[in-house]
Amino acid sequence: MADLTINGKTFKLDVEPDTPLLWAIRENAGLTGTKYGCGIAQCGACTIHMDGVAMRSCGVTVSEAEGKKITTIEGLASGDSLHKVQEAWIAQDVPQCGYCQSGMIMAVAALLNEKPKPTDADIDEAITNICRCGTFAQVREAIHTIASA
Ligand code: FES
Ligand code: FES
Repeated sequence: MADLTINGKTFKLDVEPDTPLLWAIRENAGLTGTKYGCGIAQCGACTIHMDGVAMRSCGVTVSEAEGKKITTIEGLASGDSLHKVQEAWIAQDVPQCGYCQSGMIMAVAALLNEKPKPTDADIDEAITNICRCGTFAQVREAIHTIASA
């Protein structure tokens, strides 16, 4: 059993302590916006925030996540107001198939919290998420658009 705080709600989940957080989020909490890609903390599809920091949820255990504030893509907007990254994604038409994009958006939101005006080097360092559709140029453009607003 684990108590997880996800998007401001407490979930009592029937999981083993070493269960990867990604599994608990998707299978037990039923929040399927966070995607499974590689399962080995490489692709970034499963990126969530833990206490505001971008984390690859397939590489974190449930026991490591207990007591932390977890935010998934479902919890990024404030009520009916989209997060500025979500707004920019729509305005710039960033996603193609969309599969990687919830993780991409979470990674970018965390970067902009830390560095509101990131350089290309900052983006290269922080956004290592893999997009099979190759949306990297649109992602970078959207980040710079938000940063210059
Ligand atoms: S599924 Fe977690 S990084 Fe790929
Ligand atoms: S938009 Fe298709 S994998 Fe990134």
